[in-house]
Amino acid sequence: MELGLNHKTALVTGSTKGIGKAIAIELAQEGVDVLVNGREREEVERTVNEFKMRFPSTAPRSAAADLTDKEQREALFEKHPDIDILVNNMGIYELMRYEDVNDEVWETYFRTNVLAANALIRFYLPKMLEKTYGRVIFIASEEAVMPSSQMPQYAMTKSMLLSLAKSLSKLTIGTEVTVNTIMPGPTLSEKVHQIIAGMYPEENLSFSEKEKKFMAANLPQSEIRRFIQPMEIGRLAAFVCSPYASAFKGSPIRMDGGMIPTIF
Ligand SMILES: NC(=O)c1ccc[n+]([C@@H]2O[C@H](COP(=O)([O-])OP(=O)(O)OC[C@H]3O[C@@H](n4cnc5c(N)ncnc54)[C@H](OP(=O)(O)O)[C@@H]3O)[C@@H](O)[C@H]2O)c1
Repeated sequence: MELGLNHKTALVTGSTKGIGKAIAIELAQEGVDVLVNGREREEVERTVNEFKMRFPSTAPRSAAADLTDKEQREALFEKHPDIDILVNNMGIYELMRYEDVNDEVWETYFRTNVLAANALIRFYLPKMLEKTYGRVIFIASEEAVMPSSQMPQYAMTKSMLLSLAKSLSKLTIGTEVTVNTIMPGPTLSEKVHQIIAGMYPEENLSFSEKEKKFMAANLPQSEIRRFIQPMEIGRLAAFVCSPYASAFKGSPIRMDGGMIPTIF
């Protein structure tokens, strides 16, 4: 698809793996120069080299940094002061019982999933507003509007992103800058693949049989009865970044495989 994104520059946080990498691939496919981010510098370099080979007409670059670290964020701003697209994908998650979520855990989730993204926006959004063009996307989760009991510390941060996106969108009135949130349902990133592959060790099952068994037992609300492929989220994100999606303003955009049972 020609989305009109040729030679735009995008910072995709957490783009060495999973959903972030899939978004980066779909953007690079559209001619976007991607700034690849992750904490592991070697992994970032490896991903940049992979992109150089696969998308030779683009100029991928390293944006290695631990985004929870202020100094590393500032070094990143100095190296890459100008971008057109910011995809705040990086986020941590794990199943936890409410009783085990102490104050330190709450703070870690808030700092990682909300404040790190917000710090990037505080730097890049004013520049986008000045240019009157830009795209900001948060990757939230269906947990943002349908919190389960299994990860309260995570669901809280994802709900916050919906609110933050709408507040920020109000600052973009009259410009071609948009701030939106994508809410993926359960998605087959490498991390999720590993978890499912390691389940049911006593039975001789293929991955797809394990996936079916897991979905039936744990995610029966899913209407697609499978995990979403990261590339499906990647394509949606590339569209939301495009000039064709200018009318999405502060929108929570669902691609949840039917997990959310309500209309809104
Ligand atoms: N997978 C799902 O089912 C699902 C569903 C809904 C929403 N989501 C959301 O989608 C996003 C991506 O999920 P995923 O499953 O694709 O994640 P993932 O496979 O765990 O990928 C995480 C990426 O983030 C990087 N990263 C982690 N901590 C970082 C930090 N402090 N600074 C910079 N980079 C960091 C990792 O690289 P390094 O380890 O090298 O830092 C890696 O590139 C998350 O926000 C998640 O909440 C996921």
